Amino acid sequence: AIERTLSIIKPDAVAKNVIGQIVSRFETAGLKVVAARLTQLSRAEAEGFYAVHAARPFFKDLVDFMISGPVFVQVLEGEGAILKNRDLMGATDPKKAEKGTIRADFAESIDANAVHGSDAAETAAVEIAYFFPVLNVYSR
Ligand code: CMP
Repeated sequence: AIERTLSIIKPDAVAKNVIGQIVSRFETAGLKVVAARLTQLSRAEAEGFYAVHAARPFFKDLVDFMISGPVFVQVLEGEGAILKNRDLMGATDPKKAEKGTIRADFAESIDANAVHGSDAAETAAVEIAYFFPVLNVYSR
C-alpha cells in the first residue's frame, strides 16, 4: 500500500552537510518527498515529539541533541514507505547497522544517529500531524 512516514535528518547529519545525499537515497528507493522543512526545534517541541520516551534514561540527552542545531523534517510517500525507510536507515545503533545503510554510512553513535523514521502506521500519522498541517502536504 502507498504509505506516508515522517523522516527527520538529525542535527549531526545536517551539520555534516549530507541532507542531499540522504534525500537522494530515499528518492533512489522510490520514495517521494511530499513535505519538508529545515527547522530549529525548541526544547518543548522536541520533548513533545519524543513524549513516548519521556521515562527513558536517555530522554534528556536525546532532547539536548535534537535541539543542538537545525533538523530537516520531511514526509516521505511511497509503496511500503514506513518499512522501506527503516530498511534504508539501518539499526538505531550505527554500530549494529548493516553496511550501506544511512546510519552505517553517516552516523557516529546511538544518540547522534543521523536520522529518525516512524516505526509503524499509527506513529507515522501522529508524527506527520505533529510537524505538518494537512494543507502543507502535497501528494504527487
Ligand atoms: P530515534 O529513532 O530518533 O528514536 C529515539 C532515539 O533515542 C533513537 O533514535 C536514538 O537516537 C536515541 N536513543 C539513545 N539511546 C537509546 C537506546 N538505548 N535505545 C533506543 N534509542 C536510544
